[in-house]
Amino acid sequence: MTQIIDGKALAGAVRAEVAEAVREIKAQGGEVRFAAVLVGDDPASQIYVRNKQRACEQAGIIFELHTLPATCQFVELTDLVRQLSADKKINGVLLQLPVPYEVVGDRLNEVLNLIDPCKDVDGLTVANMGKLVDGTAGLCACTAQGVLHAIHSVCPDVSGKNIVVIGRSRIVGRPTSLLLSNHHATVTVCHRLTKDLALYTPTADIIVVAAGCPGLLTADMVKAGAIVIDVGINRLADGRLVGDVDFEKVACKAAAITPVPGGIGPLTIAFLLKNIVRAYRLQHGL
Ligand code: GUN
Repeated sequence: MTQIIDGKALAGAVRAEVAEAVREIKAQGGEVRFAAVLVGDDPASQIYVRNKQRACEQAGIIFELHTLPATCQFVELTDLVRQLSADKKINGVLLQLPVPYEVVGDRLNEVLNLIDPCKDVDGLTVANMGKLVDGTAGLCACTAQGVLHAIHSVCPDVSGKNIVVIGRSRIVGRPTSLLLSNHHATVTVCHRLTKDLALYTPTADIIVVAAGCPGLLTADMVKAGAIVIDVGINRLADGRLVGDVDFEKVACKAAAITPVPGGIGPLTIAFLLKNIVRAYRLQHGL
């Protein structure tokens, strides 16, 4: 029987842990505060930010939303990020992506790296990415942690496993491949220029798909008994939300699979909350 990995239930347990940690901080007179920056009015980003707000509030974390119009100047954005990063009351800062190209052009890195690495709850600064490369403890990208947590729920030890990660984005694919490699998996990274995906996936014990391409992973590309982690979130023309995996058919062949929705999405938010508490502790030398 294929196991459907219940990301919502796994996330619920992580969120309960975080809420308990926040209660302890409050009992000692502290407070945990998180600031999100949203540039422009992309509807998907607005939903993501609202979900983060709800999750923070449920965990007892104070949430601040700072918005800028898509017509703002680059310097307005950098001034805001600098100010939030320097604010001693704020423990976590996140710049919601994507940021309109008209605002940042090719200078997104510059903006992200203005965030104090101890407040970088997305794990996207050069400092935290470098720590991930090093294999030392920093703040690690939330989705990467969610993917590892989902895998661990059905496979407690990934060392020596053949894992194919499809996608190499800064926010998902790259940190996920590094994190899995740090856990001693044999990781192959495929991406949009990979000539023949089906050359790599059939030998994988675990496949992580984060390509943003509905139906990309089909049953013929998957080894029987593999674990399949679907990070894709795609809105179809008919309004349905689907991942990157042909779920019905792949589920028949896999040992375990994450659904969309209800798989990695809830875990990403749970690990954002966990990173915010971790950031608080880093700032307080705990
Ligand atoms: N856009 C979509 N997902 C995310 C996320 O996890 N973090 C940020 N900063 N932007 C996103």
